[in-house]
Amino acid sequence: MSTTTPRDGRQRPLCRLADLPEGSRGLLPDETGRYRLLVVRRGDGLYAYLNACPHTGAPLEWRAHDFLDHEGRHIQCGLHGALFRIEDGLCLAGPCRGQSLDKVELVPGPDGMVRLKEQGPLRRASGSDSRCSGPGHRPRS
Ligand code: FES
Repeated sequence: MSTTTPRDGRQRPLCRLADLPEGSRGLLPDETGRYRLLVVRRGDGLYAYLNACPHTGAPLEWRAHDFLDHEGRHIQCGLHGALFRIEDGLCLAGPCRGQSLDKVELVPGPDGMVRLKEQGPLRRASGSDSRCSGPGHRPRS
């Protein structure tokens, strides 16, 4: 697993915790509309990764904001079906088994804001994303 840690510790607001629904959500769209970041919320747990499958680098979602398998137990790549553990991004099955998603550190604050520790590829994303609010996607059933 690769975990990226910023050297300068800068954080920037990402969105309000209350605006992150249970299930998965894509955030920080680039100029083509591709989400740079995926976030999974499970109760009080927040897990965030760069939206790039270790197999080919393709985005992971099945459709907008939908990153989970049918049972909501794993992150599943929409291209070839690799399954990733939500808690640490490890690929458990599929063509990139044993590799991991790139983890992104989120910091929930006492003010209700979730902040992103700025790091490598996400530094180029502009500003906070007000598109946090909305339905997101719960596990498919
Ligand atoms: S691109 Fe994700 S499993 Fe192939």
